[in-house]
Amino acid sequence: MSDPFRLDRKVALITGSSRGIGLAVAEEMARAGARGLVLVARNAEALEEARATIEGVGAECLAVAADVTSEEDVERMVAAARDRFGEVDILVNNAGGASFRGQLKDMRPAGWRKMIELNLVSAYLVSRAMLNAWQERRPGRVIVNMGSTSSLRSWPELSYYSAAKHGLVGLTQTLAREVAPDGIRVNLVCPHLVETPLTADFRNGPRYEQLVADIPMKRWGELEEVSRVVRFIASDAASYMTGAVVPVDGGWSA
Ligand SMILES: NC(=O)c1ccc[n+]([C@@H]2O[C@H](COP(=O)([O-])OP(=O)(O)OC[C@H]3O[C@@H](n4cnc5c(N)ncnc54)[C@H](OP(=O)(O)O)[C@@H]3O)[C@@H](O)[C@H]2O)c1
Repeated sequence: MSDPFRLDRKVALITGSSRGIGLAVAEEMARAGARGLVLVARNAEALEEARATIEGVGAECLAVAADVTSEEDVERMVAAARDRFGEVDILVNNAGGASFRGQLKDMRPAGWRKMIELNLVSAYLVSRAMLNAWQERRPGRVIVNMGSTSSLRSWPELSYYSAAKHGLVGLTQTLAREVAPDGIRVNLVCPHLVETPLTADFRNGPRYEQLVADIPMKRWGELEEVSRVVRFIASDAASYMTGAVVPVDGGWSA
């Protein structure tokens, strides 16, 4: 019998995978035996480096430069994945971020909307395109969305981020119920602070000590501590798990 924790013969498309958590998830999946990885980000040069990293682990890899907030790019990226690998089994909607902070009253509508597009609308667009590609039933299909502890609690000066990440809870749970009859699982992973370019400001900022002190485990998470959870949820070992909202936060949300 095959090991349900492994991803042998599976193909995964991971958005926002040129660095940070997305790249760590791709590496973890390659180590778990995935047959193919599709990496997606906007910067083609960074993507090529990431592709070389993944191929170094021993998996076949396709890099697609695309903006997940563009409907056209999303359709092109899903088509490219199918052209190369035939089938995609696992979708990880990981691309996201926060490019400015401040009081809500001082934020410009265009910037706020753009961040909602990046952190919430993108998951809708990519899931929609993938579900339309998944017309024929096939076991083991799964969508993992990347939330945050901002999906569960507020984060002052990041209203758009918290609003979008909370939105992912509703999106994940609703979609999980809609597609459960088709054998597709949908779950949300909610990390707290992990060292990536996204969190450099916090790591080097004046509140760093306080941010650590607020975490019951008294430390930030390691990339692998998030990527291993994503790998597990994406595997057949989690076959009865759908609509779940999973904190990976050293106890912060508790
Ligand atoms: N790091 C943390 O502590 C933490 C905690 C909780 C949740 N998260 C969530 O985890 C996810 C990954 O975060 P991270 O820390 O790994 O961020 P990161 O290091 O900034 O990486 C973000 C990735 O997304 C890509 N990306 C950004 N905008 C994109 C777009 N419009 N289209 C396609 N790709 C795009 C980036 O490449 P390009 O710029 O080249 O497109 C990059 O590959 C995000 O959803 C974030 O909200 C992170």
